[in-house]
Amino acid sequence: MDLAKRNQRSVHIWAVKALLLLVSYNVPELNAKALPNCSYPAVYSFGDSLTDTGNSIAAFPDQFAQVELDPYGFEFPMHAADRYSDGKLPIDYLEFGVRGRPNYPWLRSIAGDFEYGTNFASAGGSSRNSTGWKPDHGFNTPFSLNAQVRWFERYTVRLLTYYYYKNSFGDSAVVQTTLPAENSLNQSLYMMYAGFQYYFFDLYEKKLTPGQGLDTVPDVVDAINTAIESLVGLYATEVLVVNLPPLGCIPSLLTLFSSQNSDEYDTYGYLKNINLISTTHNKILQDTVTDLRAKFTNVTFYLGNLHDVYIDILKSPESYNVTKPL
Ligand SMILES: *[C@@H]1O[C@H](CO)[C@@H](O)[C@H](O)[C@H]1NC(C)=O
Ligand SMILES: *[C@@H]1O[C@H](CO)[C@@H](O)[C@H](O)[C@H]1NC(C)=O
Ligand SMILES: *[C@@H]1O[C@H](CO)[C@@H](O)[C@H](O)[C@H]1NC(C)=O
Ligand SMILES: *[C@@H]1O[C@H](CO)[C@@H](O)[C@H](O)[C@H]1NC(C)=O
Ligand SMILES: *[C@@H]1O[C@H](CO)[C@@H](O)[C@H](O)[C@H]1NC(C)=O
Repeated sequence: MDLAKRNQRSVHIWAVKALLLLVSYNVPELNAKALPNCSYPAVYSFGDSLTDTGNSIAAFPDQFAQVELDPYGFEFPMHAADRYSDGKLPIDYLEFGVRGRPNYPWLRSIAGDFEYGTNFASAGGSSRNSTGWKPDHGFNTPFSLNAQVRWFERYTVRLLTYYYYKNSFGDSAVVQTTLPAENSLNQSLYMMYAGFQYYFFDLYEKKLTPGQGLDTVPDVVDAINTAIESLVGLYATEVLVVNLPPLGCIPSLLTLFSSQNSDEYDTYGYLKNINLISTTHNKILQDTVTDLRAKFTNVTFYLGNLHDVYIDILKSPESYNVTKPL
Protein backbone atom coordinates (compact mmCIF):
# COMPACT_ATOMS: atom_id res chain seq x y z
CA MET A 1 0.00 0.00 0.00
CA ASP A 2 2.84 2.39 0.85
CA LEU A 3 4.38 1.54 -2.46
CA ALA A 4 1.13 2.28 -4.23
CA LYS A 5 0.87 5.60 -2.42
CA ARG A 6 4.43 6.54 -3.23
CA ASN A 7 3.79 5.91 -6.90
CA GLN A 8 0.60 7.89 -6.95
CA ARG A 9 2.31 11.22 -7.45
CA SER A 10 4.67 10.31 -10.26
CA VAL A 11 1.94 8.28 -11.90
CA HIS A 12 -0.17 11.38 -11.95
CA ILE A 13 2.50 13.52 -13.58
CA TRP A 14 3.21 10.80 -16.10
CA ALA A 15 -0.46 10.56 -16.95
CA VAL A 16 -0.81 14.28 -17.48
CA LYS A 17 2.27 14.37 -19.73
CA ALA A 18 1.05 11.35 -21.64
CA LEU A 19 -2.36 12.88 -22.19
CA LEU A 20 -0.83 16.14 -23.39
CA LEU A 21 1.35 14.31 -25.88
CA LEU A 22 -1.57 12.15 -26.90
CA VAL A 23 -3.70 15.12 -27.73
CA SER A 24 -1.09 17.35 -29.28
CA TYR A 25 0.21 14.87 -31.85
CA ASN A 26 -1.20 15.38 -35.32
CA VAL A 27 -3.73 17.84 -33.98
CA PRO A 28 -1.38 20.82 -33.86
CA GLU A 29 -4.22 23.29 -33.56
CA LEU A 30 -4.98 21.89 -30.12
CA ASN A 31 -2.78 22.99 -27.27
CA ALA A 32 -2.89 22.52 -23.52
CA LYS A 33 -5.36 25.36 -23.15
CA ALA A 34 -7.76 23.73 -25.55
CA LEU A 35 -7.78 20.19 -24.14
CA PRO A 36 -11.14 18.63 -24.85
CA ASN A 37 -13.50 18.13 -21.94
CA CYS A 38 -12.70 14.59 -20.88
CA SER A 39 -15.88 14.08 -18.88
CA TYR A 40 -17.19 11.41 -21.19
CA PRO A 41 -20.21 9.60 -19.80
CA ALA A 42 -18.38 6.32 -20.50
CA VAL A 43 -15.25 4.88 -22.10
CA TYR A 44 -15.28 1.68 -24.20
CA SER A 45 -11.99 0.11 -25.12
CA PHE A 46 -10.74 -2.52 -27.57
CA GLY A 47 -7.41 -4.20 -28.15
CA ASP A 48 -4.98 -6.68 -26.63
CA SER A 49 -2.82 -7.17 -23.53
CA LEU A 50 -1.82 -3.49 -23.62
CA THR A 51 -5.44 -2.65 -22.75
CA ASP A 52 -6.96 -5.80 -21.21
CA THR A 53 -7.90 -5.25 -17.57
CA GLY A 54 -9.03 -8.83 -16.94
CA ASN A 55 -11.02 -10.39 -19.78
CA SER A 56 -8.49 -13.04 -20.71
CA ILE A 57 -7.88 -14.30 -17.19
CA ALA A 58 -11.65 -14.39 -16.63
CA ALA A 59 -12.08 -16.53 -19.74
CA PHE A 60 -8.99 -18.72 -19.31
CA PRO A 61 -7.89 -18.72 -15.66
CA ASP A 62 -5.10 -21.25 -16.15
CA GLN A 63 -3.67 -19.91 -19.37
CA PHE A 64 -3.45 -16.36 -18.01
CA ALA A 65 -2.79 -17.25 -14.36
CA GLN A 66 0.51 -15.37 -14.33
CA VAL A 67 -1.21 -11.97 -14.36
CA GLU A 68 -2.00 -12.56 -10.69
CA LEU A 69 1.60 -13.38 -9.84
CA ASP A 70 4.47 -11.01 -9.10
CA PRO A 71 5.51 -8.76 -10.65
CA TYR A 72 2.14 -8.25 -12.34
CA GLY A 73 -0.03 -5.90 -10.33
CA PHE A 74 2.80 -5.22 -7.91
CA GLU A 75 2.20 -1.48 -7.96
CA PHE A 76 -1.53 -1.63 -8.46
CA PRO A 77 -4.04 -0.89 -5.70
CA MET A 78 -5.01 -4.18 -4.02
CA HIS A 79 -2.27 -5.95 -5.94
CA ALA A 80 -4.90 -7.78 -7.97
CA ALA A 81 -4.69 -6.15 -11.30
CA ASP A 82 -5.35 -8.94 -13.83
CA ARG A 83 -3.23 -6.89 -16.22
CA TYR A 84 0.03 -7.52 -18.06
CA SER A 85 1.69 -4.72 -16.16
CA ASP A 86 3.14 -4.18 -12.73
CA GLY A 87 1.00 -1.06 -12.52
CA LYS A 88 -1.48 0.78 -14.65
CA LEU A 89 -2.12 0.54 -18.38
CA PRO A 90 -2.82 3.53 -20.66
CA ILE A 91 -6.57 2.86 -20.37
CA ASP A 92 -6.22 3.10 -16.59
CA TYR A 93 -4.58 6.51 -16.86
CA LEU A 94 -7.55 7.71 -18.84
CA GLU A 95 -10.03 6.21 -16.40
CA PHE A 96 -8.19 7.23 -13.24
CA GLY A 97 -7.61 10.68 -14.69
CA VAL A 98 -11.29 11.15 -15.41
CA ARG A 99 -13.01 9.05 -12.76
CA GLY A 100 -10.44 8.15 -10.17
CA ARG A 101 -11.32 4.49 -10.48
CA PRO A 102 -10.21 1.51 -12.53
CA ASN A 103 -11.65 0.40 -15.82
CA TYR A 104 -13.54 -2.90 -15.59
CA PRO A 105 -13.47 -5.72 -18.12
CA TRP A 106 -16.59 -7.00 -19.86
CA LEU A 107 -16.18 -10.51 -18.43
CA ARG A 108 -15.91 -9.33 -14.81
CA SER A 109 -18.94 -10.65 -12.95
CA ILE A 110 -17.91 -9.85 -9.39
CA ALA A 111 -17.21 -6.49 -7.79
CA GLY A 112 -17.29 -4.70 -11.11
CA ASP A 113 -18.47 -1.16 -11.68
CA PHE A 114 -19.72 -0.45 -15.17
CA GLU A 115 -21.20 2.98 -14.66
CA TYR A 116 -18.52 4.61 -16.78
CA GLY A 117 -18.08 2.01 -19.48
CA THR A 118 -16.59 -1.39 -20.15
CA ASN A 119 -13.37 -2.79 -21.53
CA PHE A 120 -13.57 -5.37 -24.32
CA ALA A 121 -9.81 -5.72 -24.91
CA SER A 122 -8.41 -9.21 -24.50
CA ALA A 123 -4.81 -10.18 -23.85
CA GLY A 124 -3.87 -12.43 -26.74
CA GLY A 125 -6.57 -10.98 -28.96
CA SER A 126 -5.34 -10.28 -32.48
CA SER A 127 -6.43 -7.47 -34.76
CA ARG A 128 -7.08 -9.82 -37.62
CA ASN A 129 -9.84 -12.42 -37.19
CA SER A 130 -8.73 -15.30 -35.07
CA THR A 131 -8.53 -18.55 -37.00
CA GLY A 132 -7.44 -21.98 -35.87
CA TRP A 133 -7.27 -20.99 -32.22
CA LYS A 134 -6.32 -23.79 -29.83
CA PRO A 135 -6.71 -23.67 -26.06
CA ASP A 136 -3.65 -23.13 -23.88
CA HIS A 137 -1.45 -22.06 -26.72
CA GLY A 138 0.64 -19.24 -25.36
CA PHE A 139 -0.73 -15.73 -25.29
CA ASN A 140 -3.56 -16.42 -27.69
CA THR A 141 -7.29 -16.06 -27.31
CA PRO A 142 -10.12 -16.35 -29.82
CA PHE A 143 -11.16 -12.79 -28.87
CA SER A 144 -9.82 -10.90 -31.86
CA LEU A 145 -11.15 -7.43 -32.65
CA ASN A 146 -14.11 -8.72 -34.64
CA ALA A 147 -15.21 -10.78 -31.61
CA GLN A 148 -14.73 -7.76 -29.34
CA VAL A 149 -16.93 -5.65 -31.58
CA ARG A 150 -19.59 -8.39 -31.47
CA TRP A 151 -19.33 -8.31 -27.66
CA PHE A 152 -19.90 -4.57 -27.76
CA GLU A 153 -22.91 -5.02 -30.02
CA ARG A 154 -24.32 -7.53 -27.55
CA TYR A 155 -23.56 -5.11 -24.72
CA THR A 156 -25.59 -2.35 -26.39
CA VAL A 157 -28.57 -4.70 -26.81
CA ARG A 158 -28.51 -5.48 -23.09
CA LEU A 159 -27.99 -1.86 -22.12
CA LEU A 160 -30.97 -0.68 -24.14
CA THR A 161 -33.07 -3.56 -22.80
CA TYR A 162 -32.24 -2.59 -19.21
CA TYR A 163 -33.23 0.99 -19.88
CA TYR A 164 -36.42 -0.15 -21.57
CA TYR A 165 -37.41 -2.13 -18.47
CA LYS A 166 -36.37 0.63 -16.13
CA ASN A 167 -38.40 3.20 -18.02
CA SER A 168 -41.40 1.01 -18.84
CA PHE A 169 -41.98 -0.39 -15.41
CA GLY A 170 -40.40 2.27 -13.24
CA ASP A 171 -39.21 -0.59 -11.11
CA SER A 172 -35.61 -0.09 -10.10
CA ALA A 173 -35.57 -3.61 -8.68
CA VAL A 174 -35.58 -4.89 -12.26
CA VAL A 175 -32.24 -3.25 -12.89
CA GLN A 176 -30.01 -3.65 -9.88
CA THR A 177 -26.84 -2.40 -11.41
CA THR A 178 -25.42 0.99 -12.24
CA LEU A 179 -25.49 1.74 -15.92
CA PRO A 180 -23.85 4.41 -18.04
CA ALA A 181 -26.09 7.43 -18.55
CA GLU A 182 -29.09 6.81 -20.76
CA ASN A 183 -28.54 7.57 -24.47
CA SER A 184 -24.84 8.05 -23.82
CA LEU A 185 -23.56 5.47 -26.33
CA ASN A 186 -23.22 8.21 -28.94
CA GLN A 187 -21.41 10.56 -26.53
CA SER A 188 -18.86 8.14 -25.11
CA LEU A 189 -15.18 7.71 -25.93
CA TYR A 190 -14.13 4.62 -27.89
CA MET A 191 -10.49 3.68 -27.52
CA MET A 192 -8.81 1.42 -30.09
CA TYR A 193 -5.28 0.34 -29.21
CA ALA A 194 -4.51 -2.78 -31.24
CA GLY A 195 -1.93 -4.47 -33.46
CA PHE A 196 0.72 -5.17 -30.84
CA GLN A 197 -0.38 -8.75 -30.18
CA TYR A 198 0.04 -9.92 -33.73
CA TYR A 199 3.55 -8.58 -34.27
CA PHE A 200 4.86 -9.18 -30.79
CA PHE A 201 3.60 -12.72 -30.27
CA ASP A 202 4.74 -14.00 -33.64
CA LEU A 203 8.17 -12.38 -33.28
CA TYR A 204 8.43 -13.66 -29.72
CA GLU A 205 7.66 -17.20 -30.86
CA LYS A 206 9.95 -16.70 -33.86
CA LYS A 207 7.11 -17.58 -36.18
CA LEU A 208 7.89 -14.43 -38.14
CA THR A 209 11.09 -12.75 -39.19
CA PRO A 210 11.09 -8.96 -38.85
CA GLY A 211 10.73 -8.77 -42.66
CA GLN A 212 7.67 -11.02 -42.62
CA GLY A 213 6.21 -8.94 -39.79
CA LEU A 214 6.63 -5.85 -41.94
CA ASP A 215 4.78 -7.51 -44.83
CA THR A 216 1.67 -8.07 -42.71
CA VAL A 217 1.34 -4.45 -41.55
CA PRO A 218 -1.25 -3.37 -44.16
CA ASP A 219 -3.50 -6.35 -43.28
CA VAL A 220 -3.25 -5.68 -39.56
CA VAL A 221 -4.11 -1.99 -39.95
CA ASP A 222 -6.94 -2.94 -42.32
CA ALA A 223 -8.45 -5.16 -39.60
CA ILE A 224 -8.19 -2.26 -37.12
CA ASN A 225 -9.90 0.00 -39.65
CA THR A 226 -12.70 -2.55 -40.12
CA ALA A 227 -13.30 -2.69 -36.36
CA ILE A 228 -13.38 1.13 -36.12
CA GLU A 229 -15.84 1.37 -38.99
CA SER A 230 -18.05 -1.20 -37.25
CA LEU A 231 -18.05 0.90 -34.07
CA VAL A 232 -18.94 4.00 -36.09
CA GLY A 233 -21.76 2.05 -37.73
CA LEU A 234 -23.05 1.20 -34.26
CA TYR A 235 -22.76 4.27 -32.01
CA ALA A 236 -19.26 5.77 -31.86
CA THR A 237 -18.93 9.51 -32.43
CA GLU A 238 -15.54 10.01 -30.75
CA VAL A 239 -12.75 7.50 -31.32
CA LEU A 240 -9.25 7.56 -29.87
CA VAL A 241 -6.92 5.48 -32.07
CA VAL A 242 -3.61 4.76 -30.33
CA ASN A 243 -0.43 3.91 -32.22
CA LEU A 244 2.18 1.30 -31.24
CA PRO A 245 5.26 1.67 -29.06
CA PRO A 246 8.62 0.94 -30.73
CA LEU A 247 8.72 -2.87 -30.81
CA GLY A 248 12.51 -2.88 -31.32
CA CYS A 249 12.91 -1.35 -27.84
CA ILE A 250 10.89 -4.05 -26.05
CA PRO A 251 13.31 -5.87 -23.72
CA SER A 252 12.26 -9.42 -24.62
CA LEU A 253 12.65 -8.75 -28.34
CA LEU A 254 16.01 -7.05 -27.76
CA THR A 255 17.10 -10.26 -26.07
CA LEU A 256 15.60 -12.72 -28.55
CA PHE A 257 16.86 -10.86 -31.63
CA SER A 258 20.18 -9.77 -30.18
CA SER A 259 22.91 -9.60 -32.78
CA GLN A 260 26.68 -9.16 -33.10
CA ASN A 261 26.08 -6.96 -36.12
CA SER A 262 26.04 -3.34 -35.00
CA ASP A 263 24.28 -2.34 -38.25
CA GLU A 264 21.12 -3.88 -36.85
CA TYR A 265 20.98 -1.30 -34.07
CA ASP A 266 20.22 2.39 -34.13
CA THR A 267 22.27 4.98 -32.24
CA TYR A 268 20.29 4.27 -29.05
CA GLY A 269 20.94 0.52 -29.23
CA TYR A 270 17.48 -0.50 -30.40
CA LEU A 271 16.67 -2.94 -33.19
CA LYS A 272 16.14 -1.07 -36.45
CA ASN A 273 14.33 -3.83 -38.39
CA ILE A 274 11.83 -4.41 -35.64
CA ASN A 275 11.27 -0.71 -35.01
CA LEU A 276 10.50 -0.41 -38.71
CA ILE A 277 7.42 -2.59 -38.14
CA SER A 278 6.07 -0.11 -35.55
CA THR A 279 6.91 3.01 -37.54
CA THR A 280 5.36 1.51 -40.69
CA HIS A 281 2.29 0.45 -38.74
CA ASN A 282 2.01 3.93 -37.26
CA LYS A 283 2.39 5.63 -40.62
CA ILE A 284 -0.34 3.50 -42.23
CA LEU A 285 -2.50 3.94 -39.13
CA GLN A 286 -2.11 7.70 -39.36
CA ASP A 287 -3.16 7.62 -43.05
CA THR A 288 -6.10 5.42 -42.06
CA VAL A 289 -7.22 7.96 -39.46
CA THR A 290 -6.94 10.70 -42.09
CA ASP A 291 -9.15 8.63 -44.43
CA LEU A 292 -11.62 7.92 -41.61
CA ARG A 293 -11.88 11.64 -40.87
CA ALA A 294 -12.72 12.30 -44.51
CA LYS A 295 -15.17 9.40 -44.74
CA PHE A 296 -17.05 10.01 -41.48
CA THR A 297 -17.34 13.73 -41.03
CA ASN A 298 -19.90 13.12 -38.26
CA VAL A 299 -17.24 11.44 -36.09
CA THR A 300 -14.19 12.88 -34.28
CA PHE A 301 -11.05 10.76 -34.52
CA TYR A 302 -8.11 11.38 -32.19
CA LEU A 303 -4.74 9.82 -32.90
CA GLY A 304 -2.94 8.95 -29.68
CA ASN A 305 0.81 9.10 -30.18
CA LEU A 306 1.96 6.59 -27.61
CA HIS A 307 5.02 5.83 -29.73
CA ASP A 308 6.58 9.25 -29.17
CA VAL A 309 5.72 9.22 -25.46
CA TYR A 310 7.54 5.90 -25.14
CA ILE A 311 10.55 7.22 -27.09
CA ASP A 312 10.60 10.34 -24.94
CA ILE A 313 10.74 8.23 -21.79
CA LEU A 314 13.57 6.11 -23.23
CA LYS A 315 15.56 9.21 -24.22
CA SER A 316 15.09 11.14 -20.99
CA PRO A 317 14.03 8.65 -18.34
CA GLU A 318 15.19 10.93 -15.54
CA SER A 319 12.54 13.51 -16.35
CA TYR A 320 9.93 10.79 -15.69
CA ASN A 321 11.71 9.45 -12.60
CA VAL A 322 12.25 6.21 -14.47
CA THR A 323 15.49 4.60 -13.32
CA LYS A 324 15.46 1.51 -15.57
CA PRO A 325 13.80 2.34 -18.89
CA LEU A 326 14.24 -1.23 -20.13
C1 LIG B 1 10.80 12.55 -9.02
O1 LIG B 1 11.05 12.17 -7.70
C2 LIG B 1 11.39 13.24 -6.85
C3 LIG B 1 11.78 12.66 -5.50
O2 LIG B 1 10.82 11.75 -5.06
C4 LIG B 1 10.21 14.22 -6.77
O3 LIG B 1 10.54 15.31 -5.99
C5 LIG B 1 9.85 14.69 -8.17
O4 LIG B 1 8.67 15.47 -8.14
C6 LIG B 1 9.61 13.51 -9.10
N1 LIG B 1 9.44 13.97 -10.46
C7 LIG B 1 8.52 13.49 -11.28
C8 LIG B 1 8.52 14.04 -12.67
O5 LIG B 1 7.71 12.65 -10.94
C1 LIG C 1 -17.51 18.60 -19.04
O1 LIG C 1 -18.64 17.84 -19.48
C2 LIG C 1 -19.49 17.42 -18.42
C3 LIG C 1 -20.55 16.48 -19.02
O2 LIG C 1 -21.03 16.97 -20.23
C4 LIG C 1 -20.08 18.65 -17.74
O3 LIG C 1 -20.90 18.24 -16.67
C5 LIG C 1 -18.92 19.50 -17.20
O4 LIG C 1 -19.45 20.70 -16.64
C6 LIG C 1 -17.94 19.85 -18.32
N1 LIG C 1 -16.76 20.51 -17.73
C7 LIG C 1 -16.19 21.58 -18.28
C8 LIG C 1 -14.99 22.11 -17.57
O5 LIG C 1 -16.60 22.10 -19.31
C1 LIG D 1 -13.79 -11.16 -39.84
O1 LIG D 1 -14.97 -11.58 -39.23
C2 LIG D 1 -16.12 -10.79 -39.53
C3 LIG D 1 -17.29 -11.35 -38.73
O2 LIG D 1 -17.10 -11.19 -37.37
C4 LIG D 1 -16.41 -10.82 -41.01
O3 LIG D 1 -17.48 -9.96 -41.29
C5 LIG D 1 -15.18 -10.35 -41.76
O4 LIG D 1 -15.41 -10.48 -43.15
C6 LIG D 1 -13.95 -11.17 -41.35
N1 LIG D 1 -12.78 -10.59 -41.98
C7 LIG D 1 -11.93 -11.32 -42.69
C8 LIG D 1 -10.76 -10.58 -43.28
O5 LIG D 1 -12.06 -12.50 -42.82
C1 LIG E 1 -27.76 10.19 -29.18
O1 LIG E 1 -28.79 9.23 -29.32
C2 LIG E 1 -30.01 9.60 -28.69
C3 LIG E 1 -30.98 8.43 -28.85
O2 LIG E 1 -30.43 7.29 -28.31
C4 LIG E 1 -30.56 10.86 -29.31
O3 LIG E 1 -31.72 11.26 -28.62
C5 LIG E 1 -29.52 11.96 -29.23
O4 LIG E 1 -29.96 13.11 -29.91
C6 LIG E 1 -28.19 11.51 -29.82
N1 LIG E 1 -27.17 12.51 -29.54
C7 LIG E 1 -26.32 12.91 -30.46
C8 LIG E 1 -25.30 13.91 -30.04
O5 LIG E 1 -26.34 12.48 -31.61
C1 LIG F 1 -22.07 8.67 -38.94
O1 LIG F 1 -22.08 8.35 -40.32
C2 LIG F 1 -22.06 6.97 -40.62
C3 LIG F 1 -21.97 6.81 -42.12
O2 LIG F 1 -22.87 7.62 -42.75
C4 LIG F 1 -23.29 6.29 -40.04
O3 LIG F 1 -23.25 4.90 -40.29
C5 LIG F 1 -23.32 6.55 -38.55
O4 LIG F 1 -24.50 6.01 -38.01
C6 LIG F 1 -23.26 8.05 -38.26
N1 LIG F 1 -23.18 8.24 -36.83
C7 LIG F 1 -24.02 8.99 -36.16
C8 LIG F 1 -23.84 9.09 -34.70
O5 LIG F 1 -24.93 9.61 -36.71
